[in-house]
Amino acid sequence: MDLSSEKDAEFGRVVDEIQDAIEREAGIIYSKKVIQEANNPQNVGRMPKPDIAGEITGPCGDTMEFYLKIEGDKISDIKFYTDGCGPTIACGSMTTKLVKDKGIEEAGKITSQDIIDALDGMPEENLHCGKLAADALQKAIENYREERA
Ligand code: FES
Repeated sequence: MDLSSEKDAEFGRVVDEIQDAIEREAGIIYSKKVIQEANNPQNVGRMPKPDIAGEITGPCGDTMEFYLKIEGDKISDIKFYTDGCGPTIACGSMTTKLVKDKGIEEAGKITSQDIIDALDGMPEENLHCGKLAADALQKAIENYREERA
């Protein structure tokens, strides 16, 4: 029996166990959807020539930016950018999914609770991440309305 390969296998098992424990713990705190969106965010980045943009810095110091392309009254494209934590990234990503291809009026009604619900919930200490996303989106929509007024 090759002792070194047995040790490698044992080490691999220990690493797997630690990884499982971390994921289990993360699963207890954050929903699967939050982890999924944070690890694989959609529509992320700054859009070079948006029709409208909005940006908010929350009380925690994190900033969220939204960039929108509007066709007719519909959001044909949207991107977000944030310097915030994983849950903030998850909220930004989910917000873009919720409003892409929706009318501006409908998008204007999206609340932080809608974003949190779409992510299957968020721990108490991260509820403000949903608010930051909702506020930044509403800021962009407000800018759009002002520009057209
Ligand atoms: Fe600042 Fe999430 S920690 S918005």
